[in-house]
Amino acid sequence: MSGSADQASVRGSRCASRASVIEIAGLTPTVSVTAAPAWDSPETEELFASACGDCHSNLTKWPWYTNVAPVSWLTQRDVEEGRSTLNLSELGTTEVEVGEIAEIIREGEMPPWQYTLVHGGARLSDQEKEALISGLQASLSGTVSSESAADEGAEETGAEDDD
Ligand code: HEC
Repeated sequence: MSGSADQASVRGSRCASRASVIEIAGLTPTVSVTAAPAWDSPETEELFASACGDCHSNLTKWPWYTNVAPVSWLTQRDVEEGRSTLNLSELGTTEVEVGEIAEIIREGEMPPWQYTLVHGGARLSDQEKEALISGLQASLSGTVSSESAADEGAEETGAEDDD
């Protein structure tokens, strides 16, 4: 098994054809963004994109290794589960509270460590964590619930789409 010995080269070679990788991963190359946040700054958007966006938006950048099995740094399942919990390309669908997002970032639960092994850019310093947290708080206020929604269904935020 030499899979993990190749991490350094994995990081250095992301130039494989994205189109074919996307096909192999079985997803359509069409990116749909139905309701993205009004980012408070380009820095927040960039931090989110590099640390979270592959799994929590529709703007996933499939790396070439998605094509090589078995690899578990970024799988279609991660992306599907991640998007179904929190998808900043489809804000109306998300039920996660901003406070919960902040906690998860602060505690280093997200991004998943296996992912950061290969996606070095996703690793957040303490300073970046705080910047991302306050940026998300500013960007998401009013779009995802900011208080604990004790009563499920009690509050509906923003536009409601039924697909
Ligand atoms: C490699 C894919 C991946 C990346 C990158 C990633 N996540 Fe996740 N995230 C997931 C998956 C899968 C889940 C659902 C399963 C779970 O909770 O572990 C999840 C769940 C969550 C949840 C809900 C947790 C809960 O207990 O309800 C939050 C909030 C979250 N992620 C925030 C983030 C933030 C913020 C970032 C960036 C700092 C990030 N994630 C990066 C895959 C990812």
